[in-house]
Amino acid sequence: MLSGKRIVVGVTGGIAAYKAVDVVSRLRKLGAEVRVIMTQSATEFVTPLTFRELSGNPVVSDMWTEPKTWNVEHIAIATWADLFLIVPATANIIGKIASGIADDMLSTTVMATKAQVLLFPAMNSNMYNNPIVTDNLAKLSALSYHILEPAAGMLACGVEGVGRLPEPEKIVAKVIDLFTASSCLTGKKIVVTAAGTREPIDPVRYIGNRSSGKMGYAIASAAAARGANVVLVSGPSGLPEPQGVCLKKVVTAEEMRQAVLAEYKDADVVIKAAAVADYRPCTVSGDKIKKTEGTLTLVLEKTVDILAELGQQKNKQILVGFAAETQDLLAYAEEKLRKKNLDMIIANDVTLPGAGFDTDTNIVRILYRDGRQEELPQMRKESLAGVLLDKIMELM
Ligand code: PMT
Repeated sequence: MLSGKRIVVGVTGGIAAYKAVDVVSRLRKLGAEVRVIMTQSATEFVTPLTFRELSGNPVVSDMWTEPKTWNVEHIAIATWADLFLIVPATANIIGKIASGIADDMLSTTVMATKAQVLLFPAMNSNMYNNPIVTDNLAKLSALSYHILEPAAGMLACGVEGVGRLPEPEKIVAKVIDLFTASSCLTGKKIVVTAAGTREPIDPVRYIGNRSSGKMGYAIASAAAARGANVVLVSGPSGLPEPQGVCLKKVVTAEEMRQAVLAEYKDADVVIKAAAVADYRPCTVSGDKIKKTEGTLTLVLEKTVDILAELGQQKNKQILVGFAAETQDLLAYAEEKLRKKNLDMIIANDVTLPGAGFDTDTNIVRILYRDGRQEELPQMRKESLAGVLLDKIMELM
């Protein structure tokens, strides 16, 4: 199944390093060519000799040993790789990659590779839940690194919690999925909208909302990783531009509407994760509005509902909407699904902790046109993006 695939396995210094031995063995049995890079700490847990025997290749762990042939070794391995795994990924290597630190063979090679990088974090649950690690993982996800969440269970430190490296068969299954998935949307055009729009009041003020763009950017990245031609129409967001997508930046609902309509005709799928303003000020003051005695009244007018307009013009496109609600989640989501002529709507109750605006995770229920519904557990927005694309592919 992996015949001809060139996989680099980076092993870092965690107790779960022993499981990487089995991963390498399984990858070889499935036909992959494997090169192993170990950090110095990893060599304290497992010997390089073990990986050399199982991979059939020399193991690299030191930047400074004399290479057998002339080449710049970290660049040669980085370019050679079709896929880069880090098993296990300690908090240390996650922090280094997220911060752009390249101070050993593994971190330097990861920085030099153009291959997809798949990280398998494994550590004590307090470390995994430390906001520094969480932020680093969120940053890497936004930069299109793939992250497989660790499993829960008894950890090596004797504590029960999240942080276990998944079993080798699961890791290998993920590798196979990634190779299969990397081409499954080839030839498809997917338009994704993300973040909130801003409706100006005067030159310095606007009406906006709390959308960060995390949900939409995760979907755009995941679709690009599956080979789709992705146009990401985004309101203002502090997130880095995802790799492999065509990013169109907009500010207002009307600009988003124009950008989406321009891409709609030949689109196969439109996924509207953006939080679009429903109202905007009727007039925009040319100068900063000055403070006066008493109250200030802003008169608002409706914006065009972009998704409803797409629904009216729909021919072959699959239309996916999001519903952000604070009450009667399902009733409102069903109504939007029907009124906007959608194929699917993702309902999120934005009052729940860990769901909705500016969180790294989401908790959603998917509603389909034919009346089916699926409830999903809380998961990282990157994982949810993958699940949603799987569902959309089933509809296609
Ligand atoms: O960006 P994050 O911080 O990650 O947060 C993610 C999210 C909460 C913004 C996202 O998960 C989400 O729910 N997006 C939709 C928010 C929203 O505006 O929902 P709505 O129920 O108001 O709109 C329903 C659908 O119609 C949405 O797909 C929306 O993009 C679309 N719409 C709404 C108004 C409008 N004028 N035009 C539209 O196209």
